[in-house]
Amino acid sequence: MTQTFKVRRAMVSDTKQIAGLMRHRDIFRLLGKDYTVANLRSWLADNEELCLVAESEERIVGLALSYPFGFGGGYFDHIRLFDLAVDPRYRNHGVARRICFSLFSSLKKSGIKKVMAFVESDNKAVQEFNRTIGMAKEGMIKGLFMDGKRPVSGVVYGRSLA
Ligand SMILES: CC(C)(COP(=O)(O)OP(=O)(O)OC[C@H]1O[C@@H](n2cnc3c(N)ncnc32)[C@H](O)[C@@H]1OP(=O)(O)O)[C@@H](O)C(=O)NCCC(=O)NCCS
Repeated sequence: MTQTFKVRRAMVSDTKQIAGLMRHRDIFRLLGKDYTVANLRSWLADNEELCLVAESEERIVGLALSYPFGFGGGYFDHIRLFDLAVDPRYRNHGVARRICFSLFSSLKKSGIKKVMAFVESDNKAVQEFNRTIGMAKEGMIKGLFMDGKRPVSGVVYGRSLA
């Protein structure tokens, strides 16, 4: 495995590869793959500056997708980090950390004040990862996620970009 990768904005033409990395998520099972990929394409077109990918040897190996979430001061100034994923072969080499710090820095330049994220209470890896990038626990929402038919609480995370 090479550890050389670059972080760049996600583009509409990345849709298939991004979908490939996200495929484990419930949304593809619930809404159907074709429908979800089509929606992902148009969603990327609208949110290009809020989504970053890590690329290695012309393959996408990591992603952070976000969208405008909170409203303050007359414009959207919060974003929700909606999905974060790294190809298993590229994990534990700082890929997710570099994507997130690049995202935070470009969001800050755009006037975004805060990043929010909701993480399944049983996803200890992401909770530990969040701690290392300065995302603080702000609360818990019961039954926010479903694991099959089992409701799973969501831990609410926030990080000020001020
Ligand atoms: C969580 C995830 C994005 C981390 O990606 P990554 O590129 O391997 O993370 P990094 O190498 O940048 O890790 C940075 C720090 O996070 C922590 N961390 C990362 N993965 C961890 C794990 N599995 N368990 C515990 N801590 C972890 C470590 O402290 C690490 O610091 P270190 O490099 O000093 O050891 C990746 O494991 C993943 O894609 N998981 C599956 C998808 C998922 O659950 N996404 C969340 C949906 S919101």
